[in-house]
Amino acid sequence: MVSDTIQFLLNNKIFKIKNPDPNKTILNYIRNDLKMTGTKEGCAEGGCGACTIVLGELDKNKIVYKAINACISFLPILNGKQLILIENLSNGKSLHPVQEAMIKFHGSQCGFCTPGFTMSLFSMHKNNKSINNEIVEEALSGNLCRCTGYRPIIDAAKSLNNKNDLDQFKREKNKTIKLLKHIKSTDIEINNRGKKFFAPKTISNLKKILNKYPDAKILSGGTDLSLEVTKFRKEIKTIISLNSIEKLNFIKKNKNLLEIGATTSLFEFQNFIKKYFLDFHDILKRYGSLQIRNVGTIAGNIATASPIGDTLPLLLTLDAKIVVQGKKQRKTFSFSEFFISYRKTKLKKGEFIYSIKIPIIKDNIFKAYKISKRFDDDISSVCGSFNFLIKRNKITKAAIAYGGMSEIPKRALAIEKKLINSEFSENSFHQAVGLINKDFSPLDDMRASSHYRLAVAKNLLLKAFYEIKNKQTIRIN
Ligand SMILES: Cc1cc2nc3c(=O)[nH]c(=O)nc-3n(C[C@H](O)[C@H](O)[C@H](O)COP(=O)(O)OP(=O)(O)OC[C@H]3O[C@@H](n4cnc5c(N)ncnc54)[C@H](O)[C@@H]3O)c2cc1C
Ligand code: FES
Ligand code: FES
Repeated sequence: MVSDTIQFLLNNKIFKIKNPDPNKTILNYIRNDLKMTGTKEGCAEGGCGACTIVLGELDKNKIVYKAINACISFLPILNGKQLILIENLSNGKSLHPVQEAMIKFHGSQCGFCTPGFTMSLFSMHKNNKSINNEIVEEALSGNLCRCTGYRPIIDAAKSLNNKNDLDQFKREKNKTIKLLKHIKSTDIEINNRGKKFFAPKTISNLKKILNKYPDAKILSGGTDLSLEVTKFRKEIKTIISLNSIEKLNFIKKNKNLLEIGATTSLFEFQNFIKKYFLDFHDILKRYGSLQIRNVGTIAGNIATASPIGDTLPLLLTLDAKIVVQGKKQRKTFSFSEFFISYRKTKLKKGEFIYSIKIPIIKDNIFKAYKISKRFDDDISSVCGSFNFLIKRNKITKAAIAYGGMSEIPKRALAIEKKLINSEFSENSFHQAVGLINKDFSPLDDMRASSHYRLAVAKNLLLKAFYEIKNKQTIRIN
């Protein structure tokens, strides 16, 4: 069944919108159409958290709460979900425990950022019973406050540790689940004055739509695509969302291989990969913010082919493969062959990334570091990734890649060649880093100068060496 009407819950009532504008953001809808103006607009590009809202999504019989940035989310993605706004938290005259904590600990001054912080705390509180520093820092990494200072807000967050969450959302949980099941989405096909939005539920329907609209833009998390509308003021004529296709949201593993489906969120992937490649997890923890990782995907990161895409140098050194669904069959590309030039990939019209495969190579030593101006929610100036195999003090494998050093994320082939079959020693590494100018001629830009990038790239490789040699981590931030 196909529908031109999206349905979502607000205050446990079903809202329906027939043929909504696919380029309209949720933020504009709630502020301009619903006249619920508690949610604020700061940057309009996912960077400040003023617009944070929470979506309740059904996962089997459980509701998972996700904080997202309403300013960079298109309205049709509300389909089948529970929308929770700052106005929904209080229950009659009594405030939600999260709001009470913000007041008790003086977490607000001018109040502009407060609804966003409160919504981030709300989803943290709903998803976690016991709360520690790490959970608080992660929950608040996408919210900026320029007057209160963070200490009182962090104190408010910590006060929620083990606090009973018997709020109206819990009391009405069964009703919400019933309603969410009732509005569980069908295939969506929207046509709003020529602007189209498709959200098929199966891969075969996706293929049919892509065949008919090969120029359509594929939407995963929208953390890159939406900026075409919100930042660059363009109109996107046809959007095909992958998010309703359950068969693309998976993580499979066997002894030798991990496979991650295209729509798996970065947050889900971050938690999964920790056991296999700790540094991959640590880099993902610093990727954008929780709001970004709740919706953004690795497939989206790869498809942008951005020279500063954080997952790309890591996947390059891990020898990962990209599985592309072609018109007729699936094709597999290595990372080195997939990226052609600046933001250009081997992906053809009508094709999409189906999954990413990462081999598990037990004896390898994997290290990765991100250098950015801020620790959280910032784009890399340089991202370095290193994968070594060392046997009897001899380097038998060296895979070295950097982001931020050229127009595409690239392996450092001259350095690798110098290191392979060398002794694992300070001398070998100091000689090898001297070849950095052979591998890269980075640009100067607002994030970093070419000189800085070259120096950092060398030092990151040396850091990897010293960490491996001394079997300990050297903190840089
Ligand atoms: C505030 C903010 C912070 C950010 N921080 C970081 C950061 O720290 N590190 C970093 O690397 N990036 C960062 N980004 C960039 C962005 O998050 C990434 O590019 C992201 O991975 C895109 O994934 P997505 O799922 O949101 O893709 P989308 O925005 O949905 O799509 C991006 C592009 O990929 C295409 N695409 C998506 N999925 C597929 C698919 N399965 N097959 C084929 N094409 C597809 C789309 O058509 C589009 O062209 C940030 C962005 C914002 C707004
Ligand atoms: S308005 Fe700044 S993140 Fe949305
Ligand atoms: S209270 Fe003013 S910006 Fe946070």
